[in-house]
Amino acid sequence: MKTILVTGGAGFIGSTLIRQLIAESDWRVVNIDKLTYAGNLESLAGLADHARHLIFCPNWAFDLHVANFMKTILKLARERGELRVAGVQIGTPTWARHPAEATALIPARREVPDLPDGLYDLAPAGEPSWHGSAEPIFLAAQRAGLLEKTPVVHRITSAGYPLPTPRPAKSRLDCSRLRRGFGLARPALRSDLNDCLANARY
Ligand SMILES: NC(=O)c1ccc[n+]([C@@H]2O[C@H](COP(=O)([O-])OP(=O)(O)OC[C@H]3O[C@@H](n4cnc5c(N)ncnc54)[C@H](O)[C@@H]3O)[C@@H](O)[C@H]2O)c1
Repeated sequence: MKTILVTGGAGFIGSTLIRQLIAESDWRVVNIDKLTYAGNLESLAGLADHARHLIFCPNWAFDLHVANFMKTILKLARERGELRVAGVQIGTPTWARHPAEATALIPARREVPDLPDGLYDLAPAGEPSWHGSAEPIFLAAQRAGLLEKTPVVHRITSAGYPLPTPRPAKSRLDCSRLRRGFGLARPALRSDLNDCLANARY
């Protein structure tokens, strides 16, 4: 059986695509969706627990590629001695490779008969918020020789950093299903940051 990966599958186009794939093929669909304000599991009504459909929900992700919070804050840290970071979105940033690795495990694990379908949260342990994530990012960057001096970081509220679309106040995830279904331990944010930045070329 083929496995196809769909990102944003709880959105308008993604959910339409998944409906079509389930109806017209015998492929297995792995759906990675961050379930932002735009994501809606109701758009997958009847498919959320389908035997060939599995959903991974990561938290806000970081990696060396593509713009993300880790890269932005490291750039600002090099330019400024002081930063203002919002203490919002209580939750833990997720290294982008974890959803990818979990996806790669699926073909093998799906042979296990009692593996439950449906939604799997995927995020490191801890609840630091954006502001609380800054310090471990700076420590990992210093360790990798990418940052000389850690800036002073001031915690501000959402109102101090307005965005066109308000961020959710909390992004806590429950990864217990992931552990039971796939035997995957929750990743550790600090070691993920160290491993990720060890390969950085800035
Ligand atoms: N709808 C259109 O008419 C249209 C036309 C052309 C292009 N597009 C593009 O196609 C894409 C999908 O459009 P749509 O209308 O289905 O959007 P949508 O807003 O309905 O759905 C987007 C989905 O992506 C998820 N998502 C957002 N950020 C994510 C992240 N970092 N990781 C994982 N999931 C994330 C959201 O939770 C949501 O479920 C967008 O890039 C859009 O710009 C849409």
